[in-house]
Amino acid sequence: MAVAVKKPKPMTPDQFERLPSHVAIIMDGNGRWAKKHKLEIARGHRQGTESLREIIRHTDDLGIQALTIYAFSTENWRRPKEEVEALMQLILDFFASEIDELDAKNVRILILGDKSAMPPKQRDTLIAAEERTGGNTGLRLNIAINYGGRDELVHAARELALLAASGSIRPEEITKQSIADRLYTRGQPDVDLLIRTSGEMRLSNFLLWQCAYAEFLFPKVLWPDFSVQDYDEALKAYAQRDRRFGGR
Ligand code: FPP
Repeated sequence: MAVAVKKPKPMTPDQFERLPSHVAIIMDGNGRWAKKHKLEIARGHRQGTESLREIIRHTDDLGIQALTIYAFSTENWRRPKEEVEALMQLILDFFASEIDELDAKNVRILILGDKSAMPPKQRDTLIAAEERTGGNTGLRLNIAINYGGRDELVHAARELALLAASGSIRPEEITKQSIADRLYTRGQPDVDLLIRTSGEMRLSNFLLWQCAYAEFLFPKVLWPDFSVQDYDEALKAYAQRDRRFGGR
């Protein structure tokens, strides 16, 4: 007879010695999850949005300031047409089903990435979500869509080069802060903790600048199986890390 294993309750903020201000997540493993369950890839991505919903809720409950998730990279356009279409549909479905709750919870949504190159429906949905929640003051939910970390840095460099060429600033006035101020995440804390599920250990062009001093965790679990309990484990592991920022 199967023995029911009782899941531990989600942890509360007072149970952590320290919590990150900014968590970034690469939601990897949807394809392998689908394969393992003999399902189409699109089903893996759909199941991945279920995990995402729970993780956003828990991040908000814990009072973490910012959560950035990688939903679609500039390289993901190279995937098979049906998979790209399924992901585009998921973007529409995700906002249709979540926007009311997120707005009610005072979550502020920001899209990191080039929205102008998205199909019109998706672009309008993303802009509407940003506009609707722009005045909210709770969790900063950054969703990277059509995002590339190097593109983000090139964009900042070009802006500064234009200012220097027009004589508005001298090259020696360019600082780390002036670069940070030209990234999508301007005004937000650097990433403290980066989680990539599925055991892969790569950054894949995600938040290259913002992760300069991040702690990295690579749980083996596939994203659609990543539970609130797995997240709590990662946050506990983070609390035990000794962060020195280059010092002793
Ligand atoms: C990586 O898994 C995951 C993605 C490329 C997409 C992640 C998207 C979602 C979870 C849902 C969409 C999100 C929103 C906000 C609507 P993979 O397919 O590379 O997995 P594999 O390495 O096992 O093939």
